[in-house]
Amino acid sequence: MATILSVSGSPSATSRTERLLRHLDHRLTAQGHKVTALDVRTLPADALLGADFRDPAIVEATALFERAEGVVIGTPVYKAAYSGLLKSLLDLLPQHALDGKIVLPLATGGTTAHVLAIDYALRPVLSSMGAVHILPGWFTLDKDITVDDDGTLSVAPDAAEGLVQVTDRFSAALGGRTTLLAAAG
Ligand SMILES: Cc1cc2nc3c(=O)[nH]c(=O)nc-3n(C[C@H](O)[C@H](O)[C@H](O)COP(=O)(O)O)c2cc1C
Repeated sequence: MATILSVSGSPSATSRTERLLRHLDHRLTAQGHKVTALDVRTLPADALLGADFRDPAIVEATALFERAEGVVIGTPVYKAAYSGLLKSLLDLLPQHALDGKIVLPLATGGTTAHVLAIDYALRPVLSSMGAVHILPGWFTLDKDITVDDDGTLSVAPDAAEGLVQVTDRFSAALGGRTTLLAAAG
């Protein structure tokens, strides 16, 4: 069992990225991990924009990174890269905040033209922060994620299969149980 921090970098109050991550959190929990969710949008904007390293919420977020063995980083694609909100938090963390950690990068976006944003934009940043192992990530099209009125999330079958694969690979890298669970859709 590993300690996992699951970070959503979307500023949206109705974020598909965030919903998707929370859905995957359940899968990781079922595989024996202790998962903590962190939605960057809930952190104080003045601390993020004013680079206030000493704000208690930023200190606590930094401690969550320190304690985690595995980190899921989820972001919407904005202007062909990751969100500015996510970057505002990463910029406040110590340079080697991901030292020795296993990282799973995930993105959602509106067009497959930016399916490689994880690799050309996010991965180098995570690498510069010391991540020991950045697993292959997964890009999910926003139209493939549906949230019903009751909050139930569904993912189109092909996307769901890819998400299950990368999530289970992440879990296995962290020593999670190799339980056979239903697809993430
Ligand atoms: C300001 C803005 C910029 C965006 N830029 C892109 C982009 O460059 N490429 C892309 O594929 N999608 C882009 N999108 C679409 C979002 O990435 C997509 O809808 C994503 O799933 C939103 O995630 P969220 O609901 O978690 O915020 C953009 C959306 C917004 C609001």
